[in-house]
Amino acid sequence: MASATVYRKDYIPPTHWVDSVHLEFDLHPQQTHVHSTLIIRPNEDRINNDLVLNGRDLELVRIVMDGRELDRTEYTLMPNGDIVLRGITKEIKLEIENIINPQANTSLMGLYLSKGNFMTQCEAEGFRRITYYPDRPDISAKFTVRINAPKSVCPVLLSNGNLVEEGELDGNWHYTCWEDPFPKPSYLFALVAGNLKCREEKFQLKNGKKALLQIWVEPQNLDKTEFALESLKRAIAWDEERFGLELDLERFMIVATDDFTMGAMENKGLNIFNSRCVLATPEVATDRDFARIESVIGHEYFHNWTGNRVTCRDWFQLTLKEGLTVFREQEFAADMLGDSTARAVKRIEDVRYLRDRQFTEDAGPMAHPIRPESYEEINNFYTTTVYEKGAEVIRMLQTLLGKDGFKRGLEQYIRDHDGSSATCEDFLNAMAEANMRNLSQFTRWYSQAGTPHVRVRTHWDERSATYTITLSQFCPPTPGQTKKEPFFIPFDVALFNSKGKPIALQLQAETNAKGTSRVLELTDEEHSWVFVGVKEKPIPSLARNFSAPIIVDYNYSPEELVFLSQCDNDAFNRAHAMEELSLLCINEMVSDYERGTRMVINPHYRNAFESMLTDKSISPAFKAIALTLPSETRIAEAQPMINPISIRAAIRSLREQLGRQFSHLIMRVFDDNAPNPVYSPNAADAGKRAMRAFCFELLLAGGNAKSLLRARQIFETSKNLTERLDALRIIVNSASPTKFTLLEAAETEWRNEPLLINKWFTLQATATVPMDECPIVDVVQNLVERYPGYNAHNPNNVYSLVLAFCQNNLAEFHRPDGVGYKFWVEQVLKLDRINPQVSSRLARCLDGWRRYTPECSKLMFSALKYVYSQPNLSTDLKEVVGKALN
Ligand code: ARG
Ligand code: ZN
Repeated sequence: MASATVYRKDYIPPTHWVDSVHLEFDLHPQQTHVHSTLIIRPNEDRINNDLVLNGRDLELVRIVMDGRELDRTEYTLMPNGDIVLRGITKEIKLEIENIINPQANTSLMGLYLSKGNFMTQCEAEGFRRITYYPDRPDISAKFTVRINAPKSVCPVLLSNGNLVEEGELDGNWHYTCWEDPFPKPSYLFALVAGNLKCREEKFQLKNGKKALLQIWVEPQNLDKTEFALESLKRAIAWDEERFGLELDLERFMIVATDDFTMGAMENKGLNIFNSRCVLATPEVATDRDFARIESVIGHEYFHNWTGNRVTCRDWFQLTLKEGLTVFREQEFAADMLGDSTARAVKRIEDVRYLRDRQFTEDAGPMAHPIRPESYEEINNFYTTTVYEKGAEVIRMLQTLLGKDGFKRGLEQYIRDHDGSSATCEDFLNAMAEANMRNLSQFTRWYSQAGTPHVRVRTHWDERSATYTITLSQFCPPTPGQTKKEPFFIPFDVALFNSKGKPIALQLQAETNAKGTSRVLELTDEEHSWVFVGVKEKPIPSLARNFSAPIIVDYNYSPEELVFLSQCDNDAFNRAHAMEELSLLCINEMVSDYERGTRMVINPHYRNAFESMLTDKSISPAFKAIALTLPSETRIAEAQPMINPISIRAAIRSLREQLGRQFSHLIMRVFDDNAPNPVYSPNAADAGKRAMRAFCFELLLAGGNAKSLLRARQIFETSKNLTERLDALRIIVNSASPTKFTLLEAAETEWRNEPLLINKWFTLQATATVPMDECPIVDVVQNLVERYPGYNAHNPNNVYSLVLAFCQNNLAEFHRPDGVGYKFWVEQVLKLDRINPQVSSRLARCLDGWRRYTPECSKLMFSALKYVYSQPNLSTDLKEVVGKALN
């Protein structure tokens, strides 16, 4: 099927409104009956009165309008499955009956089965797979729902809002009725039915009311829900406190399912989560998992205001709710951490993720502004650009307006648009009005794709004691956008004297100095700022705390980077300086490797490394993140031509040399960082564990034989997954044959716990050394084809095995013989038949084909071409591969 492009400029308000909808379900795995009753009235502002009801893969039984059944000539069935009713000029009552087959639904959109339980996912356009409806976010209606189901299979029946009735039916069936007090668009509808148990609590809200909180899971998982419930309570209290936003429901439910394409979904009052974003005990979740769970619980909860009470007018506005909610989630997570270095660690992690994934996206064939102008398949635009870069754009507003000003703007936005659907302009207007600021240039962040570069030039004039900073911006072209207008860039700077102290800042036009850091507002292509009273040549700290999603081009000397890695009082930039040094070092080693000369560690990096390793004044968590070597993706981003094999060789040699040269020191640091024996996922303990894992990896790389025994012992005796998994990973990535015994032991222990078996997949998929000379692609292929616990219908299985390999194991995936790409072709095509969102996500691993060595690049190109030539591709896959080839 030819996929049609949808354009943002083509938006037209709906022809009709839906005042209310009543849905009745008779649940059956293959034959679920849906009976919907809609009250529909024309939109007086529109002349067109043809009513389009979207439908996909539905079996229509009947349509009844105002009590009279329509015959086949009275409506049009479109080839895509939609129904058109012509000339609807007055209010009507429409009753529609249709049948759906949840069991055959492998796309996980609409109503589907997960281990025998009924689940729904409607965002973005899944509701049309449940019943005929004007499935667009600018139509909100009051929903009531009745669910009928056999009691034995479905003891629990849930939908949005409040439970208003329940009872018994003949033949051992029962029913529940739900009423959602808030009008909502169809994408926020949810239904869950099955054999589930819940942990619940009545929670005291600030307004005096109490709300019932429930976490619903499969019975065997009930003991893994405590952390999620605690996180939910923290999220509720935080939104009250920070933004004055209260829970508006008597009942708030979260449901976990193993079968879910994304992380989670904010359905009104009934959030549905991928189980990996809910379930946690020290035995099945790592420190990172705990942190992620708290963030995602917060994220979905915060959507209740930013997403649900105020929703999006159309799907182009997705970042309006997602960018804003990711930002809120990040602020929540930071506030829960409290102290400033712990916050900085979180910020460093978030920015690294952005740099690894979003900067790559912005530099590739799928580059798009945070608000795209067009799409073929909206599901392809749930991207790191819309989410994470979108959050950076919101963060820049907070930086420019201040925390209070930002809060005022958010209050105004919600006041102005509560109960309706909004656009990104609406949001910016509220921010501008509440703060009496002109933000018109700022809107370019919403319309221009690409990562801007800011070039920095500095000049210290001894005679006049002035220091001039000149910033100039440039944004490389992206598909469809060759020329870019200047962005509005908040650029935070500080200046350090030779003693490592920040100096008081005074600009030429100012009468006195104020503060030791300053947010410069770059709006032109180029601008200079002159600081006065600068008596010695300072060292600048630039774009502090990552004040804008940009790349800073400044020629620091290695000495200056060492200085900043030791003295910068912005913890983010301190770690950033360390990262720049390590990149400098690794790049030199990559060149050594490619020239065939001995790889040597840059002495400046070596010094900075040693001094940070031994610095007693900084927390283990900060040390661990600052010392962790950059990811291969990050290193690749900075290379003119990517050769994953040289990158891996350089990293391996660097680890080995560091491990050898500093073995005594590292051993001491290891011993100094013994975490509390009673496990807690708190940031301080997690930091110690991270520091230990880092030490371990270097020691083993450096050939320390005792560390292998020690790692094995930790894997076998530790009670928490963080330590066990770190130990096992280090062994798997070593040459030691123990890995086979341990992987087997892990499999025996973990095979019945999906969360753990997924970790087991990822360990092997991301292994950095072949297993018994068997390339990792063969290991992965073997698991896909022969391991009984792998199920291609389960997205988590695919992500943790196939995607983890193709996306994160660069050197093994990009083998010059092309076996990795051959595997990719097979998997993409196979998965496309099952779940297009999964196949198109996997397909994006070849986005960067132009940037690899000529031999890889050629093979990648033919793999893409081959996929593109196949018949019956999904619109999702077709768009992604088509754009990659363009
Ligand atoms: N709105 C969800 C979130 O919290 C994501 C849902 C995406 N679903 C999809 N099928 N693309 O971010
Ligand atoms: Zn979201």
